Amino acid sequence: MKLKLVLASALMAFGLSVQAAPIIIKYSHVVADQTPKGQAAIKFKELAEKKFPGKVEVQVFPNSQLFGDGKEMEALILGDVQIIAPSLSKFGKYTKQLQVFDLPFLFDDIAAVDRFQESKEGQAMLTSMKSKGILGLGYLHNGMKELSANKPLGYPADAKGLKFRIQASDVIEAQFKAVGANPQKLAFSEVYQALQTGVVDGQENTWSNIYSKKFHEVQGYIMDSNHGVIDYMVITNSKWWDGLPADIRKGLAEAMTESIKFGNKVALEESDSFRQKVIDDKKAKVLTMNKEQVAAWRKAMMPVYKQFEAEIGASLIQAAQKSNK
Ligand code: LMR
Repeated sequence: MKLKLVLASALMAFGLSVQAAPIIIKYSHVVADQTPKGQAAIKFKELAEKKFPGKVEVQVFPNSQLFGDGKEMEALILGDVQIIAPSLSKFGKYTKQLQVFDLPFLFDDIAAVDRFQESKEGQAMLTSMKSKGILGLGYLHNGMKELSANKPLGYPADAKGLKFRIQASDVIEAQFKAVGANPQKLAFSEVYQALQTGVVDGQENTWSNIYSKKFHEVQGYIMDSNHGVIDYMVITNSKWWDGLPADIRKGLAEAMTESIKFGNKVALEESDSFRQKVIDDKKAKVLTMNKEQVAAWRKAMMPVYKQFEAEIGASLIQAAQKSNK
């Protein structure tokens, strides 16, 4: 009898301790907390932990603290991290379709990007990497990207011979080659130093990334070029996700949707204020491009479309083009 009691209480203790152990979700990313992605990750932690007190713990790792570019996808597939949100330009190893987002001057603005992501074609891409262990939980906006360099870039000829840091994207590589520049794929965490030491002369990024990583302090000129987009797919390890208890998975999906909405609001509302902060800092000159200049860049970069049409798919490119009003 005594033994039974001891056993029962031991089992209870064991049962309780199993129940008490929360599901740990590591959410890793490469940008600063104040950016749209940084804010969305913090919001996801808040919402998920509020929904499942004591059952779910979300650990957010910003600024490439846990994993930087290159490593984070492998870590996700290995189960070392559960959620990441890489830029759509960094999926080349896993799918060629997402390259569509890197085509220069494809989208007029973020509203057009949003329409395309919400379309049948956009939504299908979220589940297109399941066989590789990757599931897209949603798209998240950052913004349109701007060119920066240590000299003014009025026309494409000004970029000739300059070295530009690029994300790991073959389309972006081709885009810079089309204007006679030398693109170099570098991790986001290495950009500031590469600009500072002259390893590269320029880069392209959004206002929130430029300001929060102080690129404007090591660049002379930033062009309001809006020649492309930096957006994200928030992804998870599909096996881990499918293995979660159904109620938790449902609640986490809801928290993710809400956190993305919040991040998108930050992206929309704060882009101009990050631009203004760069101007106010008076470290780099912000130059606008007139219609003639924009047309010249567009024309110079257009050959990239033909180059990648077969890989991306002509119909996908057309679907994206249709999202412009
Ligand atoms: C970059 O590498 O420049 C961006 O993709 C970083 C990011 O995640 O916004």
